[in-house]
Amino acid sequence: MAFTVAIDGPAAAGKGTISRAVAEHFGFAHLDTGLLYRAVGAKVTQGVDPLEAAEALKAEDLNAEGLRTQAAAEAASRVAANPQVRAALVDFQRAFATRAGGAVLDGRDIGTVICPEAPAKLFVTASPEVRAERRYLELTEGGHEVTRAEVLEDVKARDARDSERVTAPLKPADDAVVIDTSEMSIEEAVAAAIGAVQARGAAT
Ligand code: CDP
Repeated sequence: MAFTVAIDGPAAAGKGTISRAVAEHFGFAHLDTGLLYRAVGAKVTQGVDPLEAAEALKAEDLNAEGLRTQAAAEAASRVAANPQVRAALVDFQRAFATRAGGAVLDGRDIGTVICPEAPAKLFVTASPEVRAERRYLELTEGGHEVTRAEVLEDVKARDARDSERVTAPLKPADDAVVIDTSEMSIEEAVAAAIGAVQARGAAT
């Protein structure tokens, strides 16, 4: 039976970790929709037209090298403001969401635009400072040379661009459960998310 879990929120709030843990707990498939925008952004950086890149996107493009870098995130957030690019990526996401066996999708507009009918919607957030610190540790552990100040600036710039854009701005769905992870450990945040999904009817 199809059961969709929509998980939205700003950069580095813990969406990725929570989404993977929720998917594993319930035995659902997981799609990190940010990768779609990162993959399109990467193609645009190489000179491809944004709409052509979105329309030609294939599942294997999501495994391309370098999609986790700051540059790819920046390119993603730019192409993500393009309504035609967003529209071209809708069908892929909805097909994934309704697959038999259940699905978790994480992104910015899953509960509001892509899957407004999803029974379980979470909005995972944290303060910009906490998110920047987490992203800084993630990037430096991965060998990237960045400063805390640069990462905080990037987080704030992307928050502004994602929240202020006209098409599919970042905001919680009316019926989303908001989880603020600023003061939570990963285990606490994952437990809160699993509890919220169970409360919306997913079988354990
Ligand atoms: O993990 P992080 O939040 O840093 O990045 P991401 O989730 O991979 O998203 C990168 C960028 O893609 C975001 O800043 C958004 O602009 C965009 N995005 C979006 O607009 N809609 C989505 N469903 C997912 C990502």
